[in-house]
Amino acid sequence: MRTILLWMARNPWLKERLPRLRFIRKAVRRFMPGEDADAAFAAAAALAASGHGILFTRLGENLAALAEADEVAAHYHAIMERGATLARPIELSVKPTQLGLDIDEEACFEHMAGLAARADVAGTWLWVDMEGSAYVERTIVLYERLRAAHRNVGICLQAYLRRTPTDLQRLLPLEPAIRLVKGAYDEPSDIAWRRRAEVDGAYQAAALVVAEAAREGKARLALGTHDSGLVERIAAFAEAAGVSRDRLEVHMLYGIRAGELRRLQEAGYPPFTLIAYGKHWYPWYMRRLAERPANVGFALRQLLP
Ligand code: FDA
Repeated sequence: MRTILLWMARNPWLKERLPRLRFIRKAVRRFMPGEDADAAFAAAAALAASGHGILFTRLGENLAALAEADEVAAHYHAIMERGATLARPIELSVKPTQLGLDIDEEACFEHMAGLAARADVAGTWLWVDMEGSAYVERTIVLYERLRAAHRNVGICLQAYLRRTPTDLQRLLPLEPAIRLVKGAYDEPSDIAWRRRAEVDGAYQAAALVVAEAAREGKARLALGTHDSGLVERIAAFAEAAGVSRDRLEVHMLYGIRAGELRRLQEAGYPPFTLIAYGKHWYPWYMRRLAERPANVGFALRQLLP
């Protein structure tokens, strides 16, 4: 089921047609407060009032033409300006291909660097998302260049990739901000762990490496997962190594396991919610279905009157 849903996420014919179906448009609202930034800011206000850090991502990836990247960057600059007026500024999470990585790496870097410079000034953060394996090396190089000049930039690393422990060692001297996730794409077994126990084991090991750097103030660690049991297992080991819970940020996606995030917040973990919005939600939404195929049942129930 996961493989089929991830194939559907990449299929251009379905990408064109499925988002027009009313029941799918209704179902996506569970994970997305709306298609525009106003809806995202409204959702953010309620969550920020209960003590959450907030991240925004405008959905979209793999541009058709580089000119679209200018519009995307301008949009994110405007979000940072508006978000900086809040008590706690909005952080951004951006896909490199949304700024043209697969068309012109240098143009992508320039846009990212502009956003990172603004994040430094606004006292907020720019997070670089990680996409499919074809982009990993380029994304890491992009991050290394950004981090050389900017304080407040983070990168997402995927625990399912076999290369991630090596990437982590490569990045640690930069005093990085790392958002660790399990990984959302369909990767072959020669480059990625496929079994749940293997992915969770790799996640835990990587998290503990970053947690120890965070203890020394040499890294920021974001556990980007809804797996609260895994977070608690990591915390138990981290605490034994002298890393307190307030160093273990938990980042979850809007609309998923909000009750668990509240529970972790009460237990002392700093909570963050990533709010996605935008018109180009189809591949992103299909990846959310693939993560939990039971969500397909929820989507189908929207067909009922
Ligand atoms: P897991 O899949 O084991 O789920 C743990 C629990 O959460 C289960 O009970 C499960 O049912 C529930 N759950 C998980 N996903 C759900 C869903 N969609 N709907 C309902 N329940 C769900 N990936 C990537 O490759 N690049 C990236 O840049 C990012 N960025 C990112 C940011 C943030 C803040 C998060 C939380 C996640 C990402 N991801 C990502 C996605 C990540 O790789 C992964 O696919 C999902 O987080 C699902 O895995 P979990 O860690 O939640 O664990």
